[in-house]
Amino acid sequence: MNEAISRMAAEPLTKLAYQSFQQGKSYFGLAHKTISTQLLQLLSPPKLEKTAPIPTDLLFYIQKRLNDLQEVDWQDAERGVYPTSLLFDNPWEDFFRFYPTLWLDMPHIWKRANEKRYQDFSPTVQTEGYPSYYIQNFHHQTDGYLSDESANLYDLQVEILFNGSADAMRRRVLAPLKQGLTEFEPIAPHQVKVLDVACGTGRTLRMLRGGLPQASLFGVDLSPAYLRKANQVLSEIPGELPQLIQANAEELPYLDNYFHGITCVFLFHELPAAVRQHVINECYRVVKPGGTFIICDSVQMSESPELAPAMENFARMFHEPYYRNYINDDMSDRLEKAGFTTVTTETHFMSKYWIARKAA
Ligand SMILES: C[S@@+](CC[C@H](N)C(=O)[O-])C[C@H]1O[C@@H](n2cnc3c(N)ncnc32)[C@H](O)[C@@H]1O
Repeated sequence: MNEAISRMAAEPLTKLAYQSFQQGKSYFGLAHKTISTQLLQLLSPPKLEKTAPIPTDLLFYIQKRLNDLQEVDWQDAERGVYPTSLLFDNPWEDFFRFYPTLWLDMPHIWKRANEKRYQDFSPTVQTEGYPSYYIQNFHHQTDGYLSDESANLYDLQVEILFNGSADAMRRRVLAPLKQGLTEFEPIAPHQVKVLDVACGTGRTLRMLRGGLPQASLFGVDLSPAYLRKANQVLSEIPGELPQLIQANAEELPYLDNYFHGITCVFLFHELPAAVRQHVINECYRVVKPGGTFIICDSVQMSESPELAPAMENFARMFHEPYYRNYINDDMSDRLEKAGFTTVTTETHFMSKYWIARKAA
């Protein structure tokens, strides 16, 4: 009884703390972008395509979507999809260690962007053996995805891009995933196998570990440097270490019908159209009948035409060679072509989610 009362009293405080934490990250992201844009104009005026100003009513609408995302994030924690502590998970150590490096890297990014050098890698970076579509400085990233320095900066850059809401968007895969896993009940929690495709530095796996503390987690990515980072990030938290493998998502190194659930966050906008289909086909192959495949990626023109100026600006500012094709791609059709049934979609802030089931 007393415990219930103290929980009721603590909840509004925790919610307030969460809202303040998110607001702090959001202001930080905005301040960083404002200062860096002004510096860029001053020191190295861009010769890139100009970005269009975002109308005020659209800015308010985007802020509302951000508030809605945070509310859903809080609600999911409150109803036990994941612990509230996960809402405060933040790579603080990396932030203090690498934030200065982010600024030092910026002149290199501006120079490459102005000179339209999009496949520019340090001599120490090994680029052989990767698919040609991958050998890119995606979002003008120094060394693309292929160096430890890039892996150290990636999460900070994504947090700033999304005003501190990247993990809240990643966590949105957890409710539909856990719902999908009920298909296999009764199953011992440690027998559940979940794969995160293109796991990058492991942030989604970290969120998955929070929501599924006993499951066997797996991650694949093409980048050895990002996998090294993921290994470090994931070994800091309790629970079994996810099994990480370097592999191309077009040829997943797993048996047919192996996983109960698969997630894939922020990959598809960085793939050419035909490769998107190959990856979806592979995910269909390795997920069990009755299993769920969840994609989280950028919003698209079909369901969010009001966000077109933001999507257009993203395509102009960042080197994202497949993004314009992606925002008009019918991903539900691709999922159904692969064999998935009951494909549903959701949107949260700047992300769209596809929840696809393989028939039992
Ligand atoms: C934008 S990052 C997303 C990373 C992570 N999922 C996240 O939430 O931040 C894209 C990731 O996809 C990986 N990637 C790109 N093409 C791939 C492919 N064909 N197979 C496996 N990984 C790939 C990259 O190495 C990179 O780590």
